Amino acid sequence: MSTNTRYVRIAGWGKALPRESVTNAALEGRVDTTDEWIRARTGIQERRIAGPGETTSTLATEAATAAMQRAGITAEDLDLVMVATCTPDYASMPSTASLVQDALHARRAGAFDLNAVCSGFVYALATASQFVLSGAYRNVLVIGAETFTRILDWQDRSTCVLFGDGAGAVVLQSTEQPGGLLSFVLGSDGSGACSLYVPAGGSREPTTAETVAERKHYVKMQGREVFRFATRIVPESVSQTLDRAGLVPGDIDLLIPHQANVRIIDAAVKRLGIDESKVFTNVQRYGNTSAASIPLALCEALDDGLIVPGDLIVMAGFGAGLSWATAAWRWQG
Ligand code: ACO
Repeated sequence: MSTNTRYVRIAGWGKALPRESVTNAALEGRVDTTDEWIRARTGIQERRIAGPGETTSTLATEAATAAMQRAGITAEDLDLVMVATCTPDYASMPSTASLVQDALHARRAGAFDLNAVCSGFVYALATASQFVLSGAYRNVLVIGAETFTRILDWQDRSTCVLFGDGAGAVVLQSTEQPGGLLSFVLGSDGSGACSLYVPAGGSREPTTAETVAERKHYVKMQGREVFRFATRIVPESVSQTLDRAGLVPGDIDLLIPHQANVRIIDAAVKRLGIDESKVFTNVQRYGNTSAASIPLALCEALDDGLIVPGDLIVMAGFGAGLSWATAAWRWQG
C-alpha cells in the first residue's frame, strides 16, 4: 500500500500575449500566401507577434506574475523558476529564467532554462514536479515562453505563417491532496534533428556574415516529415502515458495537445477514439507558440471553466528534436 502523502498541485496559472495580432489576410500582403491555404492546411486564423520591447523574458514575467497572484504567493515564496523555451532572450547566456527571477525579485529561487522545443512545457512540468514530490521544494514556477517569430524567415512561406509568440505559467505547489501528476512519458528521436532546426548560430556552425547571408539563422522545417511524426507520436505517447497510470483514452476529460495544426490534432484524436468535445484547441487564434502553446491552452481552458476538480487532463507535446512529452494530471482544484 502506498504511504505517499505528498502530491503536487497547480496552485495558480497565468498567460501573456503580445499586443499585436496579425491575421492571415494581413500576411497576404507580406508573403505569397492566402488565408484559404493557411486555414485549410493548419486551421490558423491569426497569431500574436512580439513588438519592440516584448521579449521571451518579458512575456514570461507577465505570465508568471499572473500565476503567482492566482496562487496567492509572493516572489519570496518561490524556490525555483524554470523556463521552457527555444527562443531565449540571449542566444547562449544568461538563461531567460535568470532574467525572469530578477524581474520578479524572487531572491530565494534557483533558475534555469529547459529546451525541448515544443515539448518543453511538459518536460518542464514533469521535471519540476519531481522537486515538489521529493519534498525538496514547496513552490516552483514553470513557464513556457517563446518569441518564435524572431527566428522566422519571412521569405519562407512554408514556415512563417505557422508560428506565433506568447507565454503561459503555472505555480506548482506541494499538497497532501491526492491527484496532480499521475504519469508521464518523455521521448526523443534525435535522428530527426534536421527535420526542424536552426542550422547556424550554435557550436556546429557559429554565426558569420556568410551564415546570415544564407539565412541559416532562421528555422528550417521539413513539414511533411514533421506532420507524419506528429500524427504517429501523439496517440502513441498519450496511450503509453495513460497505460502507466492504469487509465484508457475513454477516461480523459480534457486533452490539451500541443497547438501546431488542427489537422494533426484531428488525426490524433481520431486514432485515440476520443470525443472531439474533450479536446481543447486555440491554435486558430495564436498559431504554433511552441513551448507556450500547452500552458496557454491550459490557462484558457481553466479560465473558461472547462476543468473541474477530479478531471483527468492529458497534456501532449511534440516537436523539434524530434521530441515528445505527455503528462496525465488529475485536477485537484
Ligand atoms: N501559402 C501558400 N502555399 C504554400 C504555403 C503557404 N504559406 N506554404 C507552402 N505552400 C505550397 C508549397 O509550396 C507546395 O506547393 P507545390 O505543390 O506547388 O510545391 C504546396 O503548398 C504544398 O506544400 P506542402 O509542404 O506539401 O504542404 P502540406 O500539405 O504538407 O502542409 C504544413 C504544410 C502545413 C507545414 C504541414 O506539412 C504541417 O503542418 N506539418 C507539420 C508542421 C508542424 O507542426 N511543425 C511544428 C512542430 S512543433 C515545433 O517543434 C516547433
